[in-house]
Amino acid sequence: TTEELPSTDIITLTRHVLLDQLRLGTAATGDLTLLLTAIQVTSKFIATNVRRARLINLVGLAGETNVQGEEQKKLDVLANDIMVNSLRASGKTAVLVSEELEDAIIIEERNKGKYCVVFDPLDGSSNIDAGVNIGTIFGIYEVRPGSSGTPEDVLRPGSEMVAAGYTMYGSSANLVLSTGSGVNGYTLDAALGEFILTHPDIKIPPRGKIYSFNEGNSMYFHPPVNAYLHSIKHPKTGSPYSARYIGSMVADVHRTLLYGGIFGYPDDKKSKSGKLRMLYEAFPMAFLTEQAGGLATTGTKRILDLVPKNIHERCPVFLGSRDDVRDLMKFYDAKL
Ligand code: AHG
Ligand code: MN
Ligand code: MN
Ligand code: MN
Repeated sequence: TTEELPSTDIITLTRHVLLDQLRLGTAATGDLTLLLTAIQVTSKFIATNVRRARLINLVGLAGETNVQGEEQKKLDVLANDIMVNSLRASGKTAVLVSEELEDAIIIEERNKGKYCVVFDPLDGSSNIDAGVNIGTIFGIYEVRPGSSGTPEDVLRPGSEMVAAGYTMYGSSANLVLSTGSGVNGYTLDAALGEFILTHPDIKIPPRGKIYSFNEGNSMYFHPPVNAYLHSIKHPKTGSPYSARYIGSMVADVHRTLLYGGIFGYPDDKKSKSGKLRMLYEAFPMAFLTEQAGGLATTGTKRILDLVPKNIHERCPVFLGSRDDVRDLMKFYDAKL
């Protein structure tokens, strides 16, 4: 019997992104590759701290409240600092927007590049102390022609992003990325210190059988959402959908990309615009979902067509398998 040897032809994230840019003819500057290298490093750094959090006194509250009125966890603050420092030092950024910072950071002249990065440094904070999956979400714009970097450079539709992705810190660290030509997933090989291509060309199944909503809020949900949820729990034919809700957007979206189904965080009677933030939660995840062949909507509008008026604006989010999202939209069309 011949035992199979491990592959010696591994594709690292850097190699893959470089090849991509060569193919698209955008390798001339390699700027995006360098920026993505900086982001990879932040993910490794945050992953290491997440792993050791319990051991090095990194669980619990930091003692401050962010601009959204949420109590910051120590890891929220640490992940934010890691991102800001590394992105600034990359020399490739002009504007940084973080969930944890009230104002956009405008990078000083000597470190300035042409990209704007919007990010949620640590997503799923409520899950940190239980050791449940958390993540980092990011989206990348280029500054507008002639601009040297202002907050207006990110007050643009999500469809204008040049790249978006997330890293999920789970049983392994998984980085999922799109530069606008499909979606690829990479797994951190901790021994090598490299993200290795493990999920090439992710395509979301056209229909799934899982729904992912915080149904504890259903007394506040609007009629179309409750009617839709009822329809998948009491189908006229076939079996009802399964419920899976982790409460970390990164983990819930990751599962949705791989298994299919629908993830939703609606606006409701209590939260007029929903909870998720347009720039650094909804847009990057909508970008990835569409690039994987799925749909992302507010119920009535394509998420990537929205234009934020301020950097911390929120919006309703429904995303996932094409047919499941279309089914939900029918309930909105029916104006229940
Ligand atoms: P964050 O931890 O970055 O503030 O984001 C939390 C978000 C998101 O991860 C998740 O989908 C949602 O909040 C969960 O909210 P509920 O606890 O209200 O379900
Ligand atoms: Mn938060
Ligand atoms: Mn978040
Ligand atoms: Mn966060």
